[in-house]
Amino acid sequence: MRGLFITLEGVDGAGKSSHTEWLADYFRSQGRTVLLTREPGGTPVGEKLRAIVLHEPMHAETEALIMFAARREHLAQVILPALARGEVVVSDRFTDASFAYQCGGRGLPEARLEILERWVHEATQPDLTLLFDVPDEVARARLAAARSPDRFERESQDFFERVRAAYLRRAERHPERIRVVDGTRSLAEVRATVAAIVGALG
Ligand code: TYD
Repeated sequence: MRGLFITLEGVDGAGKSSHTEWLADYFRSQGRTVLLTREPGGTPVGEKLRAIVLHEPMHAETEALIMFAARREHLAQVILPALARGEVVVSDRFTDASFAYQCGGRGLPEARLEILERWVHEATQPDLTLLFDVPDEVARARLAAARSPDRFERESQDFFERVRAAYLRRAERHPERIRVVDGTRSLAEVRATVAAIVGALG
């Protein structure tokens, strides 16, 4: 069976994490083996890089390079082997997050990240990306209820508006891959939408 690579994206508080387990169960019920993973992280080296990048102040380019360093390891150790075994890989974030946060949020030129993207995974792109989209007020209200914030979650409203806009621009540019899901609706409605999208994957 052909491997399937699905990524979940959205601003912090968009609700993507509420859907990872459900999505995994959906594919398991179809007899598929599912590998759930996340970025930054997903490997022992990647999780160490995650702890650094989420909590230590650093230059925006250092941040971008760490995201792609962790991603290189993630692809080599986890994603590519699982796809080669024909599994369904569901990753909580991938390269679209770098374009949204490091370009949209931090203001790095997209051309820089395009170089890293080609270097790290030119031949591999997700088969499907679900972009959970919510307005800033909704994301903020959800985050306020959550545990202690990391470096990104402490950013300003402006930052998140830029991240959201960058995600939506990317969805416009890759309509065949990125599906925007309205994350303000009820969990049941969001799930029905997601089920319809993944059901159409074939
Ligand atoms: P997140 O999925 O929000 O983790 P959690 O739900 O545990 O808080 O990811 C952590 C943060 O990393 C998130 O704020 C976005 C940021 N990030 C980037 O800035 N660039 C990237 O390339 C990736 C993968 C994540």
